[in-house]
Amino acid sequence: MQIGIDKIGFFAPHLYLDMNKLAEARNIEPEKFTIGIGQEKMAVPPITQDTVTLAANAALNILDEEDKQRIDFVIFGTESGVDHSKSAGVYVHRLLGLNPDARAIEVKQACYGATAGIQMAKGHIALNPDSRVLVLGSDIARYGLETGGEATQGAGAVAMVISADPKILAIEEHHAYRTNDIMDFWRPIYSDKAFVDGKFSNEQYMAFFENIWNQYKEKSGLTLGDFEAICYHLPYTKIGLKALRTILTEADEDKQERLQTNYKASSQYNRNVGNIYTGSLYLSLLSLIEQKKDLPAGARIGLFSYGSGAVGEFFSGVLQPGFQEHLHVQQHEELFASRKEISVAEYEEIFQNTLPADGSDIELNTQDDPAAICLSGVKDHMRQYTNRAD
Ligand code: CAA
Repeated sequence: MQIGIDKIGFFAPHLYLDMNKLAEARNIEPEKFTIGIGQEKMAVPPITQDTVTLAANAALNILDEEDKQRIDFVIFGTESGVDHSKSAGVYVHRLLGLNPDARAIEVKQACYGATAGIQMAKGHIALNPDSRVLVLGSDIARYGLETGGEATQGAGAVAMVISADPKILAIEEHHAYRTNDIMDFWRPIYSDKAFVDGKFSNEQYMAFFENIWNQYKEKSGLTLGDFEAICYHLPYTKIGLKALRTILTEADEDKQERLQTNYKASSQYNRNVGNIYTGSLYLSLLSLIEQKKDLPAGARIGLFSYGSGAVGEFFSGVLQPGFQEHLHVQQHEELFASRKEISVAEYEEIFQNTLPADGSDIELNTQDDPAAICLSGVKDHMRQYTNRAD
């Protein structure tokens, strides 16, 4: 039985900041951000979007009534969750009107959470072939104004339905993974912004990739020549390109060219959204399969997942016949086209406009947020959500 991605959708908030303008405001050459880091636009979440609403909006766009009945497991990967106890998966389960006879949990290991979710879903479906699992990767990446990580912020979510006989990507059996307790990036419980050792985090990303890629080749017997594309966790798009370049000479010249062309397609959405942590690798996969129109069915795609702290994994999937018919390209193009640019001053104001930290109530104005599902306030310590699609 093949198991894999049957549906995949994406959501980002409606506001963005142009990286050229951020560079100008920070007295930095724009090319550092657009070429050196490889980012064009950064999604900026208004206060009415949190990780729950981002994920719920991403899933809302791909689920039909049958999915809502058949999903019996919601796995929510995030590192910017909204509650230390209650899982974000439970909120999303209710907001989407899913069948109550389901499990709903949250998974945390930095940007690796959604990958853990996919592997867990795979095991669940192997035991329950009729089941469908909703895997979510949703995050708001916050480092702080005028920090080294500022240019690598972002916000958004990817939603995937994992099932038997998947229509988009069948996940193969070979995996290579690794854990090492390091402090390259973390967020203490008292902080709403990440702490990061930028250079060390880059080094560790590369070291994990080298180790895991070699392990994967040994376990699977596959070589780079067997891959049509490799998608990477993309905190910023330059880092995946650098990782790809470290192994390119393992393939012949034709394949090298194809891998580089496909890398460009796989980083297009990320370049215009920024880091979305847990969803980032799957946004890259979505970008590849929606933007590279001539990918053949049967092509093998490699996926490199990296979650600081750190856990990494390399696995692969094979594109299924007719997969293009099951994508939501137009919906995603409209999402990008309808976004609104904001100024650096507006971005700074939105960044600092956070929910009360003392537990007091707040009512939020959701009128300016076109998303179907929004955070409308906090009352008696409970987040209030509205769903215009109801
Ligand atoms: N034109 C073109 N390129 C330029 C340039 C210009 N005018 N000026 C600088 N550059 C290039 C630099 O040469 C450099 O390129 P190389 O990496 O090829 O050397 C690149 O722009 C970036 O410059 P710096 O290394 O000087 O950048 P920095 O130190 O200011 O910040 C960063 C980079 C460390 C990634 C920082 O943005 C950061 O800390 N980000 C958050 C952490 C992060 O994303 N880490 C990634 C791995 S960890 C992970 O993957 C988990 C996760 O999601 C967080």
